[in-house]
Amino acid sequence: MAGNWKMYKTPADTIAFFEKFRPLTERSEHCEIVICPPFTNLAAAVDAVKGSRIRVGAQNIAWAREGAFTGEISGAMIVAAGATYTIVGHSERRQYFGETDETVLKRTQAALHSGITPIVCVGERLEERESGHTEAVLIRQFQNGIAGLTEAQFAKIAIAYEPVWAIGTGKTATPEIAADAHRAIRAQAREKFGPQAAEAIRILYGGSVKPDNTRVLMGQPEIDGVLVGGASLDPVSFASIVNF
Ligand code: PGA
Repeated sequence: MAGNWKMYKTPADTIAFFEKFRPLTERSEHCEIVICPPFTNLAAAVDAVKGSRIRVGAQNIAWAREGAFTGEISGAMIVAAGATYTIVGHSERRQYFGETDETVLKRTQAALHSGITPIVCVGERLEERESGHTEAVLIRQFQNGIAGLTEAQFAKIAIAYEPVWAIGTGKTATPEIAADAHRAIRAQAREKFGPQAAEAIRILYGGSVKPDNTRVLMGQPEIDGVLVGGASLDPVSFASIVNF
């Protein structure tokens, strides 16, 4: 169960969040819990979750180890801050910051080289769904991005299916729509990496996940977890998603 805070909260807000969130998830041992705050809050978040099962992730990672890459943050820097996950290829990065399937692959490889677990995002835009291209888009994103990994690397990632039309819009994919997309992604995984790898890969659903729709989404055997934006900002709301 992963939370993506996007560009919200300061370090002080982060501390306040975990003060409320920790007691609410103290006994939540059925899942992994990951919060991905902005880079500037990583250290505060890592400090605030010490002694708990909660893990901290970044929202992006540079593909280079270091160098003249103004505005980028490397895997070593993320590791030094104490984070162990990162989101890669979120649709907002694809839409506003020129992220491509190729750079998604490079960033995913960089995360793995640093020992960070990447949560690799894929998903179709509204016009792609409406024109019947959902599966083709997912296949393209898989083929050009994830399929470039080795088998050993693939075993270490998680995938998030995030239909762009469902992100921040209040329009959740129905559990059936999400499960169909997850099946399409898993079929790609099977073809490229074999049945065992396809069975083991964790595919999260993201897009307007809320406390009141988590249970039906998680009821789909294809859905292994959720990546939550807006509803992860509030400790009570995200705790009730975790404890669905
Ligand atoms: P949302 O965002 O839950 O606010 O729709 C999900 C995401 O972008 O990861």
